[in-house]
Amino acid sequence: MNDIFEKIEKHDGPIGQWANDGEGSFMFPELEGNLSNKMTYNGKEVVNWSINDYLGLANHPDVTEVEIQVTKKWGGVYPMGSRMMSGDTSYHRKLEKKLASFVKKEAALVTNFGYQTMFSCIDTLVNRKDVIVYDIDCHACIIDGVRLHIGKRFTYKHNDMTSFEKNLKRAQQITQKTGGGILVITEGVFGMQGEQGKLKEIVSLKKDYDFRLLVDDAHGFGTMGSSGYGTGEEQGVQDAIDIYFSTLGKSMSCVGGFLAGKKEVIKYLKYNMRSQIFGRSLGLISVKGTLKRLEIIQNSTEYKDRLWKNARMLQSGLKKIGFNLGKTNSCVTPVYIKGDPLYTSRLVQEMRKEHHVFCSMVIYPVVPKDIILLRLIPTANHTIKDIEQTLNAFSDIKNKIGCKLLV
Ligand SMILES: Cc1ncc(COP(=O)(O)O)c(C=O)c1O
Repeated sequence: MNDIFEKIEKHDGPIGQWANDGEGSFMFPELEGNLSNKMTYNGKEVVNWSINDYLGLANHPDVTEVEIQVTKKWGGVYPMGSRMMSGDTSYHRKLEKKLASFVKKEAALVTNFGYQTMFSCIDTLVNRKDVIVYDIDCHACIIDGVRLHIGKRFTYKHNDMTSFEKNLKRAQQITQKTGGGILVITEGVFGMQGEQGKLKEIVSLKKDYDFRLLVDDAHGFGTMGSSGYGTGEEQGVQDAIDIYFSTLGKSMSCVGGFLAGKKEVIKYLKYNMRSQIFGRSLGLISVKGTLKRLEIIQNSTEYKDRLWKNARMLQSGLKKIGFNLGKTNSCVTPVYIKGDPLYTSRLVQEMRKEHHVFCSMVIYPVVPKDIILLRLIPTANHTIKDIEQTLNAFSDIKNKIGCKLLV
């Protein structure tokens, strides 16, 4: 008999193998101070491009005031238990109404964590007769949801509509035999590459194939569309998204998530999603904090406008220097370089130490083996000076790695 721990002694895993050199720098770094455009790393103030506080609302004074009031009245951990048993409040339901109306859906369900929501929602929606068709670059929470599915599943090449239709056809051949249905899943904005999912093209195939569309818009909610309700709004197809999901952990600078769609579907999810029935309710600090942040962004597009101004300046500056930003058409700013993780991590550390610029470094298996992705998330709080400082840092890096290392 083998000990399950034996393999752990042999290998730390694809990311863990870099732990000795990378922990504290490109993995598990400690950023201190208020969540903002400037934070402290290794005792020095750095321009921070690593948090998904897109709209800069993490520490908005009006939100902080609400959070203080909640803590004074209810304490820091209210309510307790799952919503079904003891953890529901009128504020959870109020937030659901506001979110549903904002994203133009009949109903919404507020949930405890984004990741759990997504995989558990997939698990709840399908049975063994159904087939899932999903973009190969989908986030881990989607992949984990698909792993729970006991029926067939097909991936299609990232944003490739020929591959998508081919796999829809394969799915259709199966459901014609099983009598099941098809669930299509994509991201609204792919969080690593910054490329929007091709929602419009996907939706256009609804006239030829029967399927339901689930969109994970974690990076689109609050950032895309003229009123900020996401990639469906941006592409004019919000109506055709059957289930809309977003985390509250990015534009809403908070914790939690939500699903929105038709009343009867949301009711089914509310009474059947295991991660919510058997998991703790979202805390009131997050619920009321999100209500306030939502009110702020519904009253003004100022935050989204500032975010986009910064994103455009940062992206055009990096391109001018000569970096490859792939196909991003969102605020997510990926800088692709070729090289080995240790060498690149030294450059990233140097950028932090000498230029006081902090960005994340993403390695295999999140990106292909010979590629390193430096990922920058602009926010509404960044300043022109922050961007100039960052472009200087990247110019310096470019001189060090040489053009041949740019993909
Ligand atoms: C596309 C996508 N979906 C889901 C999640 C999970 O959300 P949460 O962090 O709220 O668990 C993330 C978070 O990184 C994400 O990027």
